[in-house]
Amino acid sequence: MQNLDTLLQSARSLLYDRALVSYQGRSIGAVAAVSKQASQFHDDLNYGEIFVRDNVPVMVYLLLDGRSEIVRHFLECCIGLQASVGPSCGVFPNSFCEQQGQLVADYGQRAIGRVCAFDASLWVPILAWMYEQQTRDRTWVSQPEVQSALKRFLALVLRPHFRPTPVLEVPDGAFMIDRPLDVWGSPLEIQVLLYGALRSTAALLQLGSADLAADESWVIAAQERAKRLRQYLLKYYWITSRTIQKARQQPTEQYGDRIANEYNVYPEVIPAWLQDWLGDRGGYLMGNVRTGRPDFRFFTLGNCLAALFGILTEQQQAHLFQLMVQNQQELVGQMPLRICHPPLTGAEWQILTGFDPKNRPGCYHNGGHWPCLTWFWAIAFRCYQSQAKALDPDLEVACQHVLQNCYSRLQLLPQQKWAEYFDGPSGRWVGQQSRNYQTWTFVGFLLTHYCLEANAPNVQIMRLPEN
Ligand code: GLC
Repeated sequence: MQNLDTLLQSARSLLYDRALVSYQGRSIGAVAAVSKQASQFHDDLNYGEIFVRDNVPVMVYLLLDGRSEIVRHFLECCIGLQASVGPSCGVFPNSFCEQQGQLVADYGQRAIGRVCAFDASLWVPILAWMYEQQTRDRTWVSQPEVQSALKRFLALVLRPHFRPTPVLEVPDGAFMIDRPLDVWGSPLEIQVLLYGALRSTAALLQLGSADLAADESWVIAAQERAKRLRQYLLKYYWITSRTIQKARQQPTEQYGDRIANEYNVYPEVIPAWLQDWLGDRGGYLMGNVRTGRPDFRFFTLGNCLAALFGILTEQQQAHLFQLMVQNQQELVGQMPLRICHPPLTGAEWQILTGFDPKNRPGCYHNGGHWPCLTWFWAIAFRCYQSQAKALDPDLEVACQHVLQNCYSRLQLLPQQKWAEYFDGPSGRWVGQQSRNYQTWTFVGFLLTHYCLEANAPNVQIMRLPEN
């Protein structure tokens, strides 16, 4: 194994010397994966593009590393490429790249399966908020282009829809999991990011509006939706052993507005694996709420972000970390972290993924292990530690211990060429179709190091604005 300094140096040099893309003399973001030879990427592969979601860790790292000008350039590209007319007005790109001297955006019209990355649009305002918090660059926030982009975004997510719920409904595969995996409707990750985006946008409008009286209705609408969304997530998505036991005893087939089992869920739908997975002290936000068929799968990123964004109360965060610690065998295995649990198998896999060979049970999005997810847990836990009023010392020691274990496993990544993902069940094998030198893998390692080893003075960097 390389010594730690060499390892950190090589990860930094991959980022600064290889991954960052320069356009008109300025760095504007990082490619999804660094190719060893220019010809590695065929025309049908887009890992040479600047993906907004893959750049989230990159932008966080650059802010921490004092390179905020690159973050501003990246945000300016996203804003410049935001759709400003037509039925998708307000959407930010999934990814972009330079072609013949011009920046060209993909909103999903060129992606495999034609998926639009809803998460990318939600991340842009959150990143803009983080940029402002780190730099206090009020002048940038006040620019008319920035303010209009934020309002276009709000007009998109706040527009009327059929149901009075506060969630954002999306098609299958509209976020990091960008292939069919039965994650349509109101999947957790999108709702959590929507919450972050609404709060960030409201705060940025308040900071930068040239005419706050005129913009106040935007701010109020965003804040109210965020508030309702949080209440909804805590009421319908949050599960513990207690809530499940209650749900098993509820009557079904009720009609009216004062009933307990609003989504008409039958006890048979509640999977047996939940019993040990939750134990007596665990809790988490489940994957999706739907009539009759809730999705009980555990999704790592949505849950870590819900802790980080303060959707979960302090006590719920403790239950979540407890759950992750007690299920470390599945979640960490040989390589942290499993993206979701349990995988879809058998006929469910066939029907719900469309026989997707990349998403075979335990592989890729369907329960594969993604090193890039580790830092989200590390930073969420560090934030919790720095803010909690009452820390459980046993939980603290146990969580710290598991995170250290994750960190040492990440140090083996250079031997695995900083692979994109690992296949389950335990994550020992490099993902069958994994890219090498994946940017969010090596940047995720740098961020995990920052959170766990560097005395992390700035773990609040991803905190949302105060209410
Ligand atoms: C894959 C992942 C997606 C990521 C992209 C680029 O499509 O599923 O989440 O953004 O690769 O790395």
